[in-house]
Amino acid sequence: MAKATESAPLRRRRILLADDQDSIRHLVAATLGGDQFELAYATNGREALDFAIREHPDLILLDVSMPILDGFEVCRALKQRSSTGDIKVVFLSALDSDADRKQGMASGADEYIVKPFSPLFLLQTIQHLLDDDVSKDTRPGTVDQRRFEPVEFVTSTLARYPSSFLESDRAMPAGGAELQRSESQLLIYAEELNQAYRELQATYFSTLQALAAAIDARDPYTFGHSQRVSYYTVEIAKLMGLESGAIEVLRRAALLHDIGKIGVPDSTLLKPGPLNAAEWAVMKRHPEIGEQMIAGLKFLAEAAPFIRCHHERWDGRGYPDRLRHDQIPLGARILSVADAFDAMTSTRPYRPALSVEEARAEAERGRHRQFDARVVDAFQDGIRAIEAILRRESARSSAMRSGRAVE
Ligand SMILES: [Fe+2]
Repeated sequence: MAKATESAPLRRRRILLADDQDSIRHLVAATLGGDQFELAYATNGREALDFAIREHPDLILLDVSMPILDGFEVCRALKQRSSTGDIKVVFLSALDSDADRKQGMASGADEYIVKPFSPLFLLQTIQHLLDDDVSKDTRPGTVDQRRFEPVEFVTSTLARYPSSFLESDRAMPAGGAELQRSESQLLIYAEELNQAYRELQATYFSTLQALAAAIDARDPYTFGHSQRVSYYTVEIAKLMGLESGAIEVLRRAALLHDIGKIGVPDSTLLKPGPLNAAEWAVMKRHPEIGEQMIAGLKFLAEAAPFIRCHHERWDGRGYPDRLRHDQIPLGARILSVADAFDAMTSTRPYRPALSVEEARAEAERGRHRQFDARVVDAFQDGIRAIEAILRRESARSSAMRSGRAVE
C-alpha cells in the first residue's frame, strides 16, 4: 500500500450507516470513529436509498428490518442502477437464518454480518472491502493502513459510545427485544476487550520468560535458574495460602529476581574462585539495581520490593537493607527459600549439586537464621511437588542442552 503523499492526501472513505435503532447507530459510529472514515446516517430504507443515489458513499452498512423500505429492497435497487452498483453493501442484521443470509447475498450484498457483531470483524471486513476497491484505484493512499492495536481499538470505541445511550438503554422496558440486542452487543465488545487483554498478558509473560532466560544464559551454571525459582516460589506461596493476584506478582518477581546481575561484570559474575571484597560489593548491589530496573514498569512495579529484598535474612544479616523478621516482605522471604533451594540443588564450579534431602536439611538449619520458619514449613510440606518440578526441569534442561526436542 502506497503511503499518502502531499500531492495525494489520504482520502477518508465515506460510509453510510442505515439502521433504525439509535443505540446500534451510535455503537457503530463509535467503532468506526476517529479520522479514518466519514460517516453519514439514515434511519429508514428510503432515506438510505436517496442518500446513496445523491452522495455515492464508498460503502453502506445496511440493517434489514427498517421502516418504509427494507434493507433487501434497498440493496437490490442500488445494485441494479449503474450509478450506484459499485457501492459496497454490508448487511448488519439481527436476522440470522441461512435463508436471510442467502436472500441478502442474492440481493447483491458484499457481506452479511449478524448482530450482535464482533467489532473487530466489522472493521476488518470494511477495510478488506475498501482495500479491494483501492487496489483497482490508481490514486495512492486512499485507505489508512495504521498498525492495529486491539486493546486500544476496543477501549477507544467504548469510550466514544455516549454514556447517555447506556442510560437510554437502561430506560428501555426490561426484557424488551431492543434492550436485549443492545446488551448482547455490548457484551460482545466486552468479550473482545477481555480477549485482547488476555493476549496482552500472555505477551507480557512471554517477554518476562525471555528476559529471565537471557539473565541465566550469561552463566552456564545458572541455566534455567530463574524459571525454576519461579516454579518453587509459586508452589510455596500456594501452600502458604496467598491469593492468586499476590502469587502472580510473586511469579514475576521470581522470574526477574536476579535481573540486576546485568549490572555485574562478567569478570565478577563468572569468576570461578571466591570473590574479593570489591567484587562482593558490586555483586551485592544486584537486588537494588534490579529493583530500579523494573520499578518504572507499571505491570512489574509491585514485584520490585520482592526483588530488592530477596537476599535479606530473617536474622537481619542479609543485604541490602539488613531488614529482619517481618520487616522483610513475605514474598521476599518465600523467594529467598526457593532461590536457596535451587542454588543448593544445582552444580556449582566449586561443588557438586546437593541432593534434595541434603538441601532440606540445610533449609532446616537456616530456620530462624536465614529463613522465616513458616516458609520453611511450607517448603517442607510441598517438597514432593517441588522435587517433581526439579526432576521435570532437569530433564528439560538436559534435553535443551543436547539439542533434543522437548515436549
Ligand atoms: Fe540474587
